[in-house]
Amino acid sequence: MTKTKDWNATQYLKFEDERTLPPRDLLARVPLPSPKRIIDLGCGPGNSTSVLARRYPDAKITALDASPDMIKKAQTVLPERDFHVADLTTYRPEAGDAVDLFFSSAVFHWLTADDRIAVIKRLLKPQTPGSVFAIQMPNNLNEPMHALMRETAVKGPWARKLTGVQRNELEPVQVMHDRLKLFCAKVDVWETIYYHSVEGPEAVVEWAKGAGLKPFVDLLEGDEREAFLEAYLVKIKKAYPVSVDGRVLLRYPRLFLVAVK
Ligand SMILES: C[S@@+](CC[C@H](N)C(=O)[O-])C[C@H]1O[C@@H](n2cnc3c(N)ncnc32)[C@H](O)[C@@H]1O
Repeated sequence: MTKTKDWNATQYLKFEDERTLPPRDLLARVPLPSPKRIIDLGCGPGNSTSVLARRYPDAKITALDASPDMIKKAQTVLPERDFHVADLTTYRPEAGDAVDLFFSSAVFHWLTADDRIAVIKRLLKPQTPGSVFAIQMPNNLNEPMHALMRETAVKGPWARKLTGVQRNELEPVQVMHDRLKLFCAKVDVWETIYYHSVEGPEAVVEWAKGAGLKPFVDLLEGDEREAFLEAYLVKIKKAYPVSVDGRVLLRYPRLFLVAVK
């Protein structure tokens, strides 16, 4: 398993507006008029929790994240809500806690395919029919942003340290759908490709530093880390053309699933 450092809420929030669009779009398709109990799994700095709290101000919301830095930030944004540092792969609500909605935006792609299904199954098991599990995952491993971090990793002096570092591929949608259908009454799946206009190629690197690059750069320090980022930027500059306004369009496919028990 890759050794990773804590997440950095400040780095993640450099693109807060863009990163909060997918939780909004996911929530728009959750078929619940007024859920009383919600759990936000992998809430990060609280941006997805804020989306939930705005749509369902009266719901009891618990939000958890494995990162202390993310939870610290989330607590400052929504001090009245219930935040915890916890790993969602082992997390269990208290016995008898009737959860209407499990919500997880930009988190489940960090799990293996088996863990994804196991977590959803385990958390939905004690819940009554109608309970909803909504997730959104970047589906962008074949985009230049990701292909070029892998290419940079295997070509430089850091190659030995970064051997085998990669995020898990998402399984085909049909497979995910069929595995969920074994214990869910309804599974709604769709994909959205966002085109984010960001300031320039450097902004693409800054974006990646907030999440996707972590498994790579967490293993490097000091000058070596900077050299890796410089080599990556050179490739990003070639791959992403500059628009007429001097900015860069960052193509970003994301997969959405709303499963109803
Ligand atoms: C990309 S952020 C998503 C933040 C927010 N939900 C959003 O929609 O922007 C991913 C978060 O997932 C958290 N995470 C990853 N694996 C986790 C796990 N096993 N348990 C809890 N949190 C996890 C990370 O700490 C990080 O804060």
